[in-house]
Amino acid sequence: MKKILIATEKPFAPVAVEGIKKVFADAGYEVVMLEKYTEAADLLKAVADVDGLIIRSDNVTADVVNAAQNLKIVVRAGAGYDNIDLVACTQKGVVAMNTPGQNSNAVAELAFGMMLYNARKAFNGTSGSELRGKKIGIHAYGNVGRYIAVIAKGFGMDVYAHDPFVEKEDIQKDDVVPVLSVSQLYKTCQYISLNVPANEQTKKSINYDLLKSMPKGGTLVNTARKEVIDEEGLLKVMEERNDFNYLSDLTPDCKDELLEKYADRVVITAKKMGAQTSEANINAGLAAAKQIVRFFEKGDKTFQVNK
Ligand code: 3PG
Repeated sequence: MKKILIATEKPFAPVAVEGIKKVFADAGYEVVMLEKYTEAADLLKAVADVDGLIIRSDNVTADVVNAAQNLKIVVRAGAGYDNIDLVACTQKGVVAMNTPGQNSNAVAELAFGMMLYNARKAFNGTSGSELRGKKIGIHAYGNVGRYIAVIAKGFGMDVYAHDPFVEKEDIQKDDVVPVLSVSQLYKTCQYISLNVPANEQTKKSINYDLLKSMPKGGTLVNTARKEVIDEEGLLKVMEERNDFNYLSDLTPDCKDELLEKYADRVVITAKKMGAQTSEANINAGLAAAKQIVRFFEKGDKTFQVNK
């Protein structure tokens, strides 16, 4: 009997866990749960004899991969897989997958929640501003970026996007203005929605020069990863421009300084919660479970990311 571990430091909604368990029960697999763990050692212990693993932002390090003697597949229930040591997986013959698109709407909705909260001064009774008529630049036009575009148009915003991996015609098809360079996107748009993955090319790439160039009321909305921000540059811009806002679903390393000095221009969620809805948990969790069953039963490797 195949044994599957669901290791989620930040648990799925109970209704999603129920659905995931049913998928595995129907396939005749055993499920073990490790939720809200605080020590990496707990994960090392829990993976020892499992055949498959479902995770969220949980770190699958080389140590985890090496501790999992029977592991054949790890599925990141979500989009970003920067938390998986892909080299270690490949070396041990472990297939790594993600579930692209499954939680994207939830992330996009949260971005607008943060934007409204900030534009309306944290609902504190003073006059704020509206999103209608403002320019929003979508930095990376993937699954989240596309939902951002749809919602932004609902708000009456002018929508721009930059993505070197998407044909400009495909961006235009969505009635979004393609922008050829990152610098032009930041120069043009008061709002920037950051949706790039964290990798060697993007780490610390959102720097002082880009942020400084944003128009009046510049607002960076980060639902991507903290690693892509050059935090020194961000702090410098916050210091120099009292019209600049930073809204983040990721806890920055410089969180204390940001909140101490610029509390009225900063929004930081208590814990990454873009994908933290029942719907997103069900979509991503069930997709992960079904991908594991299809992998074991049919050899299906769709969505493998360590090819
Ligand atoms: C993702 O990459 O899918 C999002 O960042 C959501 O991450 P989470 O599952 O840890 O909330």
